[in-house]
Amino acid sequence: MARRKKLGPARILGIETSCDETAAAVVENGRLALSNVVASQAEMHAKYGGVFPEVASRQHIKVIDTVVEEALAQAHLELGDVDAIAVTRGPGLPGSLLVGLNMAKGLALGSGLPLYGINHLEGHLYSAWVQLGEAATGDPGPQFPLLALIVSGGHTELVLMKDHLHYQRLGGTLDDAAGEAFDKVARLIGLGYPGGPAIQQAAEGGDPAAFKLARAWLPDSWDFSFSGLKTNVLHVVRELTAGQDLQIGEARLPQARQAADLAASFQQAVVDVLVGKTLRAANEFGAAEILVAGGVSANAVLRAAFTAESPLPVHFPPMPLCTDNAAMIAAAGYFRHALTGAADSLDMDIEPGWGLG
Ligand code: KG4
Ligand code: ZN
Repeated sequence: MARRKKLGPARILGIETSCDETAAAVVENGRLALSNVVASQAEMHAKYGGVFPEVASRQHIKVIDTVVEEALAQAHLELGDVDAIAVTRGPGLPGSLLVGLNMAKGLALGSGLPLYGINHLEGHLYSAWVQLGEAATGDPGPQFPLLALIVSGGHTELVLMKDHLHYQRLGGTLDDAAGEAFDKVARLIGLGYPGGPAIQQAAEGGDPAAFKLARAWLPDSWDFSFSGLKTNVLHVVRELTAGQDLQIGEARLPQARQAADLAASFQQAVVDVLVGKTLRAANEFGAAEILVAGGVSANAVLRAAFTAESPLPVHFPPMPLCTDNAAMIAAAGYFRHALTGAADSLDMDIEPGWGLG
């Protein structure tokens, strides 16, 4: 892309409250995180086995001021030192999104800084541009055309990016998101919440070929489906615990090895489909590079499979930026600011169901 102009320098304050993390960060030139503060509510929601929306928004309100102050303090900056504010506008939980957006509007109104409303999925994509502190190197970041897979608790999307800020959605999940499947299957097997890290850990000693589980390839589309796989795991759990009167989430498989084998077999089934379809799409659409982002991109088996099987370079976010954070929102905000300069109006509203592309 020869027409790429040199982008001007800017520091962006990012704010993210779309789900159960209250986050703020300052990112320089879309690449270097000067701070990255995340207050997670995961422990508060663990007892519900998922995010409880009203608890989430009330907790955001309690901590948002401190989180933003901390992000500026860790970057050794004051609000007047940043060039713009970027905030997640959607998709997400309405009550949670409102807390971040109102905070950002207040800061923008008081400071006169431009405000950018960012799509949370766009943020996940830009997490792969961000480098944390000392880790910064001269690498140019992902190159276009880019085939991107976003795999999180709420989304599983294949997106073609021909350039910055251009998103062509190729397909997505028809039912459960990949991370949601990890969370639900972890409950079925009796592991903790969030399920992704619990399954990965339990699977370490397991045999991924122990159980033959369904893989929904949906060969004529770029869509995904994980609900059949989840039901498949439920049936296996029922067989293994036959005779026990157990509620879902209370399953204690007779042998620890069975839980490890089932976790490993499930994880492998998800990884096979995610990697297989992404590589096929990258080939079909002539991508130069691949990007994998979102909470599930922290998964070690998924990373290893992409790295081993892809003929193209594969970019992942730094580990702490796979799950929700505000550095990714600030990075996306930088490219909006530097390439378009088209800030949003202060009367913008949240977009809880906002899709990408
Ligand atoms: O991106 P994220 O923080 O939130 C959403 O935007 O949804 O993703 C959270 C999801 C959860 O479903 C969690 O189980 C999953 O990411 N996750 C993982 C791993 N770490 C987090 N899934 C598989 N393996 C992991 N290591
Ligand atoms: Zn997310």
